[in-house]
Amino acid sequence: MAEQAYEPFPDIPRRNLMQETLEVPALIHLLHLPHGGRILEVGCGRGVALPPMAKLLAPERLAGLDIDPELIETASERMQERGVAVGLYVADVRDMPFADHSFDTVIDFGTCHHISNPEQALREVVRVLKPGGLFVAETVTSQLLSHPFRSKGQRLPWQAAPELSTYKNRLLWKARTRA
Ligand SMILES: C[S@@+](CC[C@H](N)C(=O)[O-])C[C@H]1O[C@@H](n2cnc3c(N)ncnc32)[C@H](O)[C@@H]1O
Repeated sequence: MAEQAYEPFPDIPRRNLMQETLEVPALIHLLHLPHGGRILEVGCGRGVALPPMAKLLAPERLAGLDIDPELIETASERMQERGVAVGLYVADVRDMPFADHSFDTVIDFGTCHHISNPEQALREVVRVLKPGGLFVAETVTSQLLSHPFRSKGQRLPWQAAPELSTYKNRLLWKARTRA
């Protein structure tokens, strides 16, 4: 079967504002995400979610990774404007430039749902997470609400990452703990 190409998501200022002021604070609160530690957002795009994570979680290390260099450039400008210290990487979530167990929390706002070979992405998430670390992802409900047609029938292939077991599920987001 031919590999499905990734289709970019548009830049919608109102959505960005909602993600920054509502979605990220709600996710952090509802999942009781731990403060401090090392946090990675995979598929960080324009970096909209990174400033509220920096503000609300005060991580010791914050990193954002995206395959699109132009989006990382935009994210870099955003971080400079906001004075937020973030390590930004142009890289593929399926082959990340980090050592094993580099992060305490990995956050994904839908990237692994929309790429080919999501199994490899989950394997990489497991590799870079420390034992006991958290992988935070959007639920199927969240995907269906935001992208009803594009997400139809899509599920993350959790069977590829048996080390990740359900920790909390809060309707729109879930966290899985890495064994
Ligand atoms: C659903 S968007 C999420 C963007 C941003 N985090 C947000 O919440 O608005 C998915 C992002 O994943 C990136 N992406 C697509 N394929 C990727 C891959 N293989 N590795 C890393 N990032 C990828 C896209 O460039 C895009 O920025």
